[in-house]
Amino acid sequence: MNYSETIIIGAGAAGLFCAAQLGKLGRQVTVLDNGKKIGRKILMSGGGFCNFTNLDITPAHYLSQNPHFVKSALARYTNRDFISLVEKYDIAYHEKELGQLFCDESAENIVDMLQAECHRYGVQICLRSEVSKLHRIEGAEIGAFRLQAGDAHWQCKNLVIATGGLSMPRLGATPFGYQVAEQFGIPIVPPRAGLVPFTYRETDKFLSVLAGISLPIKVTAQCGQSFHNQLLFTHRGISGPAPLQISNYWQPNESVIIDLLPTHHLEEEIKQAKQNSPKQMLKSILTHLLPKKLVELWLEQGMFKDEALANLSKAQLKNALDLVHHWRFTPNGTEGYRTAEVTMGGVNTNYISSKTMESQRVKGLYFIGEVLDVTGWLGGYNFQWAWSSAYACATGIHTADL
Ligand code: FDA
Repeated sequence: MNYSETIIIGAGAAGLFCAAQLGKLGRQVTVLDNGKKIGRKILMSGGGFCNFTNLDITPAHYLSQNPHFVKSALARYTNRDFISLVEKYDIAYHEKELGQLFCDESAENIVDMLQAECHRYGVQICLRSEVSKLHRIEGAEIGAFRLQAGDAHWQCKNLVIATGGLSMPRLGATPFGYQVAEQFGIPIVPPRAGLVPFTYRETDKFLSVLAGISLPIKVTAQCGQSFHNQLLFTHRGISGPAPLQISNYWQPNESVIIDLLPTHHLEEEIKQAKQNSPKQMLKSILTHLLPKKLVELWLEQGMFKDEALANLSKAQLKNALDLVHHWRFTPNGTEGYRTAEVTMGGVNTNYISSKTMESQRVKGLYFIGEVLDVTGWLGGYNFQWAWSSAYACATGIHTADL
């Protein structure tokens, strides 16, 4: 039987950061992970450059059944704190857009930094260690757990679940964290894919010929939330930052409204053009403002009729304005966990201390990172949640043991 004061299950962003913090506080800690290497999602993140935080982090950038839950942790370990650590390791970074900070060189820089921190503070990391069984030792005054990882048996006083969500199963995702919560009577907010591309219904499949075209749009969900950013047409549906962001606010069978020219007032522009050159055709205005292939596809599909501006009827004008500014898109669904960046839902935060991430039901049992019902926007918010929740947990464990 191996013993470690604290065991963390999951060597992802949250698990590694929590381990390093605990090590720094002089605590003994072991990380168990089912993979062959640490930080696999970090390596894939931000197109290989890891969008590790954002310059503008507020609780409003997170979705959870309890929107107040993130406040304490985000305030106690901020984006500035993580940026200082990145700078201490001389990792070059830049702001891409909207406050998003990326490594200049590679996401490997972040994994190397976390590994160096763990090494420096004596953290033990065991890879290829899939944790399958777990139980609490009956009668233990404070949390004491036994678990099995591969052939090895472990016992610990504090157990931190940092197993992430269900997205990208090929990177080692498992539902183990949710199973542990259920085992101890902690409810789960039903998980679903988040930050995920939408797929076409049968009737929209003609749009697949637009694959590869991208344009700046505004997209609005039924709940009123909207995002201005790029939309990318794919073979299967729509993707890009704006659709990914709105997917977190979309519910099955709902539509989203897409404004394909959010910085234009098409009606005004048509009015002006009609005065200056009444013979100008509607198509020529539209192709001037939008991808030609899209406009031609609309024509081909009979979605608008080309007409000289002087002859444009009220109904034809309204139809053109609706097509451009008010495209009602009803997704068939999403691409699911295969391509989702995050998992929405997870361990219900009403049963977790927002100060320490400890379960209110089971002493010594902690949940951090994406396994919790906390989902950030696209743009470095999910990693910041991993760092902040990990920090809260490490300080919580340390203080409880003083
Ligand atoms: P994470 O999933 O990172 O780690 C969990 C670990 O637990 C994994 O190593 C897993 O193998 C292990 N595990 C699971 N079950 C186990 C078991 N039973 N036994 C042992 N080990 C087990 N966010 C962001 O802020 N900026 C970005 O640029 C990106 N980019 C991005 C790209 C892609 C392609 C994806 C899929 C995701 C992102 N994200 C992101 C989201 C971000 O990667 C994610 O929110 C964090 O990695 C979550 O960190 P965790 O440590 O909670 O889980």
